[in-house]
Amino acid sequence: MSQWKITNLERQDDKVFLITGANSGIGFTTAKELLRKGATVILAVRNRQKGVEAVSKLKGDILQAKVSMLELDLADLDSVRQFSQNFKANHDRLDVLINNAGIMMPNDYMVSKQGFEIQLATNHFGHFVLTKSLMPLLESTSDSRVVTVSSIATKMKDADIYFDDLQFKKKYVKMASYAQSKLANTMFALELSDRLKESGSHVKSVAAHPGYTATNLQQHMGLLGTIMNALLAQKQEMGALPTLRAATAKQVKGGDYFGPTKMAEYRGYPELVTPPQLALDKKACEKLWTVTEELTKETFSL
Ligand SMILES: NC(=O)c1ccc[n+]([C@@H]2O[C@H](COP(=O)([O-])OP(=O)(O)OC[C@H]3O[C@@H](n4cnc5c(N)ncnc54)[C@H](OP(=O)(O)O)[C@@H]3O)[C@@H](O)[C@H]2O)c1
Repeated sequence: MSQWKITNLERQDDKVFLITGANSGIGFTTAKELLRKGATVILAVRNRQKGVEAVSKLKGDILQAKVSMLELDLADLDSVRQFSQNFKANHDRLDVLINNAGIMMPNDYMVSKQGFEIQLATNHFGHFVLTKSLMPLLESTSDSRVVTVSSIATKMKDADIYFDDLQFKKKYVKMASYAQSKLANTMFALELSDRLKESGSHVKSVAAHPGYTATNLQQHMGLLGTIMNALLAQKQEMGALPTLRAATAKQVKGGDYFGPTKMAEYRGYPELVTPPQLALDKKACEKLWTVTEELTKETFSL
């Protein structure tokens, strides 16, 4: 199959996209490309001022951009629940939910509002509860999708779900903790896909990863981040393509996983890639789902 490029992105008139963490990086670029194609895009952002600036920039770049913002802090499950209520009260459709927001490797051990390790809380728990809360709206919108953004970190040596110490309370290892949270993203996306299919739902759950892309994500990596960004990183326009393909391409199936295929998946145009091994372990995915339900106190049945 020929490469999927930005020219493959079709018109998205009348479609509503909700993108978490869309004030910068891959989320921002994803929003921009969708707006260019006529989509309605809502940026879910944790910092109001950054959200206002992002909306203003997008409106400046794209004539008549149908863009707005809503505040959402994924590291606070009460904020996620409140956000979902507001969203459902003000929108009668949601075509694509893009679980994009993320944080990577803060140097110090930090916890969320509910006391969970911050990367697992933000990257996985927040998106789990958000997806659960918005599922009725996705169900009532025809041909809708959930796209969850994962990472090549899921294929690194330390990538695992550390069920005996999910919160890294014994010893905080920032890379392993990030890899765990992103592995949880892929496992969630694939398990959600299975459960949606079993329930007969039309909603598709798809995963994507951006390879290595220069964004604010590398802010805690210091000199290593600067060097890697200079040598290895692709531009945000490339990093957004796997998400855009997963979110819009007609041939996409539930359970698909898109990422670049060049240089060990660090760079290139998006194609179907093999999920990390643990995401293909059904029992592990089910266990993660159950543990997530217990810790977030949210039953997510389909
Ligand atoms: N860049 C890469 O090479 C790469 C590689 C693999 C995977 N990814 C994944 O790609 C996704 C996008 O990251 P990016 O590279 O575009 O980085 P980015 O520019 O730092 O964007 C991350 C976004 O997430 C938001 N966010 C962080 N914590 C949040 C919270 N508690 N609630 C709501 N929003 C929050 C950030 O908001 P603030 O601006 O307020 O901080 C920001 O808008 C992430 O899931 C990341 O793990 C990126």
